[in-house]
Formats: sequence, C-alpha cells, structure tokens
Amino acid sequence: MSTTEPVEDRAAVLAGVGGWVPPHVVTNDDLSAHLDTSDEWIRTRTGIRTRHRVSPGMATSDLAVEAGRRALDSSGDDRAGAVVLATTTPDRICPATAPDVAARLGLAGVPAFDVSAVCTGFLYGLATAAGLIATGVAERVLLIGADAFTTIVDPTDRSTAVIFADGAGAVVLRAGRPEEPGALGPVVLGTDGTLSHLIRVPAGGSRQRSLAATHSPGEQFFQMEGRDTFRHAVDRMATASRQAVAAAGWSMGGVDRLAAHQANARILHAVADRLGIPAEHQLSNIAEVGNTGAASIPLLLAQSAADGGLEAGHRTLLTAFGGGLAWGATTLTWPKLSAG
Ligand code: UT7
Repeated sequence: MSTTEPVEDRAAVLAGVGGWVPPHVVTNDDLSAHLDTSDEWIRTRTGIRTRHRVSPGMATSDLAVEAGRRALDSSGDDRAGAVVLATTTPDRICPATAPDVAARLGLAGVPAFDVSAVCTGFLYGLATAAGLIATGVAERVLLIGADAFTTIVDPTDRSTAVIFADGAGAVVLRAGRPEEPGALGPVVLGTDGTLSHLIRVPAGGSRQRSLAATHSPGEQFFQMEGRDTFRHAVDRMATASRQAVAAAGWSMGGVDRLAAHQANARILHAVADRLGIPAEHQLSNIAEVGNTGAASIPLLLAQSAADGGLEAGHRTLLTAFGGGLAWGATTLTWPKLSAG
C-alpha cells in the first residue's frame, strides 16, 4: 500500500539498470528460409543481423522478471515501492502484467501497473515513475520495458517479421536531488492520434474483438506502414531531442551519448545526423537485438553500461518514437552504477 505526500524539489535519480533477452537467437538466414527476404536486404535496410525470440510458453512477464531482478541487483537493494511495466504485449488483456511481475520479484503489495505507449513506453514510464517519486507515492520505483513482439508479429509479413523482436530492460529510480548525477531531466512527450493507423493491431480490443464475425485474417497481428512511419520517426525523435536538450539547459554539442529507440539503423543515423551528434556518440545494439519495442532503450542502456559504451559522467540523451503515434525524449548524466 502507498499514500500520496508530495515532496518538494525531489528528482528521480537512476540507481540501477539491467537487461535480458531470451536465449533463442534468430538470424537473417533463419528468416530467409521461409520469407521472401535476404540477409543482404535486412542488413542494408535495417542494420539488423540477429534478434532474440521467446520460446513457446514464455511470456512478457518472464522477460520482465529477469530484467527487473538484474536492475534491482545493480541498485544494490531488492526493494521498490512501485513497479511500472511498459509493454505492448501484456501476458493477457486483463489484469495488467505488472502486479504478477512485482509479486514474482518479492514485491507483492506495492502499486504496480502497465503503461501502454508502444515503442515510446519506456519514456512514458520514466515520466510516470518520476511522478510517483515526486508525489511521495514511492521512494524507489522499478520501471521495466518488456516486449515479446514476436508473439504479435505476422510471421509471413516480411516488412515487420525481420525487425521486431523480444527482450526486456529495466531501471530503478530513487528519490534524490536534481543536481545529482543520474537525476532525470525534463521529459518531453507527445502523441498524434490522427496517425494511429500507421502502427496498429486492428483486432483484439473493444472495437474489434478477435473472435467477432467481422474479423478478417491478419487483423490479430501487428501492422505497420513502414515508409511513412520511418519519416515520422526521424522528425519526431529529432524535434523531441532538441526540446529535451533545451529544457535541460544543455547544448546539443554537449551530448556525450545518444540512446535512441532502436527502430532501424537508418533511422538512427538520420536522427544523429539531424542533431549533429557524431556517429561514435551514438549507442546501438540493433544489429544484435533488433527492435524490441518498449525494451529497446533500457536494454540498450544496460548493455552499453556493461560493455563500457556508457560511463559515469556521460551526458546522455534518450529519445523514442512509435505507435500512437507517440514520441518522447529526456536527458540524464550517467551515474556510477554496477551494470545488471
Ligand atoms: O518501432 C517504432 C516504429 N517503427 C519504425 O520506425 C520502423 C520504420 N520503418 C522502417 O524501418 C522501414 O520502413 C522498413 C524496414 C519497415 C522497410 O524499409 P524501407 O526501406 O522503408 O522499404 P519500403 O517499405 O520502402 O519497401 C521497399 C521494397 C518494397 O518492394 P517494392 O514494392 O519496391 O517492390 C518492399 O516490398 O522492399 C520490399 N521489402 C522487402 N524486401 C525484402 C519490404 N520488406 C522487405 C524484406 N525483404 N524484409
């Protein structure tokens, strides 16, 4: 249980990070064996070489628990006052997946809920977690981004099946001071629902129940209009990034690391280009893990912290874009952490 008591001048400070991908690796050649595509097309058009897929019976909560545990370990404390799970692939439509995840992490009793903002879910989750801390609901929040996208992608749709993949990443945020390393900067968020048709799963919700007579084949699957989405992804991430950097009182030249949603390597290059951020300042793991939805940024942060790409003191810009359409960006100076 938790009560609300706003506390002034509090910031949400990064205290732990962790990531996990299921062991099953799918190569481009594996996909080319049953899809009209090729390793060459996938590499040059998306930058992806491999991705990870859940095994039969494995669900989003299983990914989330693994990443959540690693983030708690990295924070040096296995307690959290709230659990927020950003996902597009909950274990089921009702109830939310976060309470299950909290219980499996030994956190039964704390507030726990899901956030639905597709690939921008982690950024929405950061703002939500910061709000829980600012209002005194929790001193420490476990925020997890987890998606088992392969469970909603049409395996015969070459435009999505080669990109979307499974994984989880998590962070622990604790109450602290705005001037501390790891303190979350202002979070910029936006949506444009007039373009919700660009990325969608048509069936399975209240408008079009999966088993209704109107249901036609393929509508239970994730659908994306890739080319239009690509253009909006670049525009929105670049604009949100500029706004977040300005709101933090930083300059773009002062950004040491760009951690952008790993949608497509060409999108990543275009965003960095527009912002004038050198390629070597861009963090990337898309070649190995593909597009893991809400997991993308926290998984990237966890892996980069582990491999030395991200070090204490790096001024880091986070930005994401996806279905909604929804987008977001924020900043933080990377704190001294043990990577989970
Ligand atoms: O996660 C957040 C939101 N998602 C994104 O931001 C993703 C944005 N979009 C993309 O990453 C890219 O648009 C895709 C990777 C989905 C597609 O790449 P593209 O370079 O934009 O290709 P396209 O859609 O313009 O298609 C070009 C051609 C088409 O053939 P025709 O009509 O020119 O004959 C497609 O049918 O490439 C074809 N194509 C493929 N060919 C081989 C599409 N997918 C494949 C494939 N293998 N996997």
